[in-house]
Amino acid sequence: MCGIVGFLGDKIQAKFLVEKLKKLEYRGYDSAGIANLEYGKFDVCKAVGKIANLEEQISDDFEINCAIAHTRWATHGKPSKDNAHPHVSVDKSWAVVHNGIIENYLDIKNQLNRKEEIKSETDTAVVAELLAQSNVKSVHDFISVCKQLVGSFALACLNSKLNNKIFLARRKSPLYVAFKNGQSLIASDPICFCNFSDEYFVMNNDEFAVVETDGVCFFNQKGEKIEKFTTKLDEIFEESGKGEYPHFMLKEIQEEKSGLRRIVKSYTDNNVLNKFDKEFLEKYDAVEFIACGTAYHAGLMGARYIEKCVKIKSYATIASEFIYMNPIINPKTLYVFVSQSGETADTLRAMELVKAQNCATIAVTNVLYSTLAKSVDFVLPVCAGPEIAVASTKAYVCQLAVLYMFARHIQNKLQNENVDYLSDIKIVEENIFNFDDSCLEEIADELKNQTNSIYIGKDLDYITATEGCLKLKEIAYIFASSYPSGELKHGFLALIEEGTIMFVLANSKEINTKTYNAGHEAVSRGARAVLIGGNEDAEILKPTWHIKMPNINELLLPMISVVPLQKIAYLVSVKKGINPDQPRNLAKSVTVE
Ligand code: M6R
Repeated sequence: MCGIVGFLGDKIQAKFLVEKLKKLEYRGYDSAGIANLEYGKFDVCKAVGKIANLEEQISDDFEINCAIAHTRWATHGKPSKDNAHPHVSVDKSWAVVHNGIIENYLDIKNQLNRKEEIKSETDTAVVAELLAQSNVKSVHDFISVCKQLVGSFALACLNSKLNNKIFLARRKSPLYVAFKNGQSLIASDPICFCNFSDEYFVMNNDEFAVVETDGVCFFNQKGEKIEKFTTKLDEIFEESGKGEYPHFMLKEIQEEKSGLRRIVKSYTDNNVLNKFDKEFLEKYDAVEFIACGTAYHAGLMGARYIEKCVKIKSYATIASEFIYMNPIINPKTLYVFVSQSGETADTLRAMELVKAQNCATIAVTNVLYSTLAKSVDFVLPVCAGPEIAVASTKAYVCQLAVLYMFARHIQNKLQNENVDYLSDIKIVEENIFNFDDSCLEEIADELKNQTNSIYIGKDLDYITATEGCLKLKEIAYIFASSYPSGELKHGFLALIEEGTIMFVLANSKEINTKTYNAGHEAVSRGARAVLIGGNEDAEILKPTWHIKMPNINELLLPMISVVPLQKIAYLVSVKKGINPDQPRNLAKSVTVE
């Protein structure tokens, strides 16, 4: 969703900051803007749509030395120049960029003078006005204004009378600062610090900062100075460009292999699973996974893995449901939050509810500096490296790998076994692309003209089907539905028409035949089946296309059988002229509930 960058230092071209803003494009946005403070006046430039539209208005001689910039994902008010950030107060004394949501902005607005002069419909414009009308002159005044705000925010603010200062505040929405050779860079994602500094400061919840030419000072809610140490920039960020690939999504699918390799290395060098010893694990009689979207599908798989390996009751719940279903939060349940970004608002909110009951919390996350990672009791790193494309691919495969190891580890500890799960992940790494993908183009060509599609499977395959189905919907805009294969005849069969493309996932020798029989009922009614997996009996299904899977332990196959589904969705998206990295209406990191 929204992104923030800011700069303070000797004059440089505004394009420097715009390039940093581009690093945040992946998060999804619909307008962008920049404001520079010089001689007590703001020079503001905004554009609706892509950053390229903003760039068109920025000449080479637009220089900045104290500036903030933003990509906005519309929440309060449509994408427009008036609603784009930075927002400048009516008296032109404050300029503000903001990520998050100010929940009490209407109450605040009602108490403001000159409210009818605020052109923007956004909650952020109200913050700019509140700062202006509160006569803020110091960091302490700034903190007391921020304390009136309810909701989540990362704020970067400039005051026209306080040259060479950027005021920052953070509650629930991430914000980071790097300082190097008299220059400061502010960003809502450390990815922006690549080629600037290899270390940065992390702002925690309810912390404030003032960035000045000689460095950054951090403050707590009481206005007391706090000391902070820098965090090292992850080396993986250096690979964060598209390289020779046309899209991040394709690059990230290819990186599934290196992600798995990194998992094996990371857990061999430092096996964080060893923190869970027998005594700890014996305290729990259930495991609940909580997540959203693709991460929820990983959670579903994690639950099945545990039930299959150790027979501890395990289940997955969608975070946004968990929050509002009046959940039973039980100290004998181990709570596992799965999130690529670690910033998904619903997942964070669910985590807070669980933590409030003093229950044990684990994060399975790709971003070790994320709010989720910083808040839980234990972190299981996903090691996928930065994921930029909106559609999650390598993070999903790596989440499955970590959850598989988690299940096996519990099995080893509680049942006194010695399953070598690291070697298992090595097998997955060696086989991740070990399937014949020669028919994928043809399938994509057929699928691109369809208005709908169906995905079926049983047990683990049903979860893979559901994940494949989500990929097609989000980047190829084709309505698709997944069903446990046994449910076909209980309703969905009515929708099968001549030519319907049906993905059939069959990777369990014991139950495949049931899936073939169910699928065949659809094939007899005109469906064309794409079989992924399968064995000798596959002919029962009469598939039009057959993508065979490598002959390895079936519990490992979900990490591989999802790959052709990801590739097909990618191909269809590109063939339809869609940018798979930034599909319409979607943001990479969903930071509002
Ligand atoms: O960062 P998270 O894993 O918490 O994100 C959860 C979902 O928003 C995310 O998986 C979403 O469904 C992806 N676009 C799926 O490709």
